[in-house]
Amino acid sequence: MTQRTMSRQNSTANRDLASVLHPYTNLVRHRRRGPFIVTGGKGVYIWDENGRQYLEGLAGLWCAGLGYNEEALIEAAIKQMRAMPTYHSFVGKTTLPIIGLAEKILEIFPRPMGKVFFANSGSEANDTQIKLVWYYNNALGRPHKKKIISRRGAYHGVTLGAGSLTGMPINHTAFDLPIAGILHTDCPHHYRYAEPDESEEDFATRLTGNLEKLILAEGPDTVAAFIAEPVMGAIGAVPPPRTYFEKVQAILRKYDILFIVDEVICGFGRTGNMFATETYDLQPDSVSFAKMLSAAYMPISAVMVSQQIYDVIADESNKLGTFAHGFTYSGHPVAAAVALRAIELIEERDIVGHVRAVAPRFQRRLHSYASHPLIGEARGVGLMGGLEIVADKATKASFSPAGSAPFYLTLRAEEHGLIARPLSEANCFAPPLIITEREIDELFDRYERSLDDTYAWVKSGCPAHE
Ligand SMILES: Cc1ncc(COP(=O)(O)O)c(C=O)c1O
Repeated sequence: MTQRTMSRQNSTANRDLASVLHPYTNLVRHRRRGPFIVTGGKGVYIWDENGRQYLEGLAGLWCAGLGYNEEALIEAAIKQMRAMPTYHSFVGKTTLPIIGLAEKILEIFPRPMGKVFFANSGSEANDTQIKLVWYYNNALGRPHKKKIISRRGAYHGVTLGAGSLTGMPINHTAFDLPIAGILHTDCPHHYRYAEPDESEEDFATRLTGNLEKLILAEGPDTVAAFIAEPVMGAIGAVPPPRTYFEKVQAILRKYDILFIVDEVICGFGRTGNMFATETYDLQPDSVSFAKMLSAAYMPISAVMVSQQIYDVIADESNKLGTFAHGFTYSGHPVAAAVALRAIELIEERDIVGHVRAVAPRFQRRLHSYASHPLIGEARGVGLMGGLEIVADKATKASFSPAGSAPFYLTLRAEEHGLIARPLSEANCFAPPLIITEREIDELFDRYERSLDDTYAWVKSGCPAHE
């Protein structure tokens, strides 16, 4: 009997099945399999209700960078709860944690920026980005300069606007997305989309040539912004091809198009720098943060804009009477206090230095699977990486149905004590940033056993397994 089947029989599982509508879940399969009930965590590990331990290979959803039992964050929350458990920041009200957090983000970001707006999720941050771009161009008297270009395969969230920026068909189909005015250009995944023998540089040149053609076809005076995640998460932790962002940014400058950088999964140390903006030499006009901003202990996100954007928005708010955007919990004081403490811990403990120290071992182990018959590509940067699973290394063909092999592997990984989420045709890794070299070995040892099981399953003709 599998752990899941056992869970299915106990009452907690049945209560879940009777009451919870799960995000990002095949809801019918869930009824069959039952929930995975998480009851505790420590460091890079979590435990389920049966007391089984798992290494969290993705830090939850790329977010619990400081692990699962950080007392300093718990204390920060309790302290702020006692001082002032809740207040808003509308009509000029504020609380001390918001001020401290905004100052801290502006201080540590490697480019001069203007102001920080707070929200509660990455999706809300990116929805806010769209609205700011529109507000900004209306204020400048450019009501036609409104289109925003994203990339196929991008992930920016699921709300109406952010879900439209996301470039995954599964997020659009049946949801009537994308909304008008959101365009998608090529996915910069060299392994999947380069021509035979095309170098990364030539691939980047071709793709950015296509981007320029798209801008010209739409009319540069109608294109307002371009948004990008430095490393693309949802297609399996894909770093940009060499010279890509340099070429993209030259085109954006040429046509007066704002550059929105989505640091939601890369920010706060993941790539071996505090921000991927440094790793890839980016010059954003506006930046989105979430997830690691609070080490995922509280829901909070942020949009940081340049002083120039802020000045335009401020004048427009004066003209209209107010800047009529914001959430009840924009800058919730407890979330802000926890986020500020998380950044302080990253600094005090030199987490970025730690990532740089252990990343070579992580990348070495990751890349060692490139020669495995099931792995088409191993790729990554810092403490993030993806392994693309293929049925045929020569043709790069995936298994059918789509996603079935990474999904099977993930089930095997659970049996071997590893959480490794399947994304597109890949297995991804982004463990808590505090992971040690010994734990990195443990992660990949557990993965290797799952990969061997998957290879045996493939060789036996991929029999039905659920
Ligand atoms: C790059 C990126 N942006 C935005 C989001 C959306 O964040 P949230 O799920 O908090 O809305 C995600 C979530 O994974 C993400 O990876």
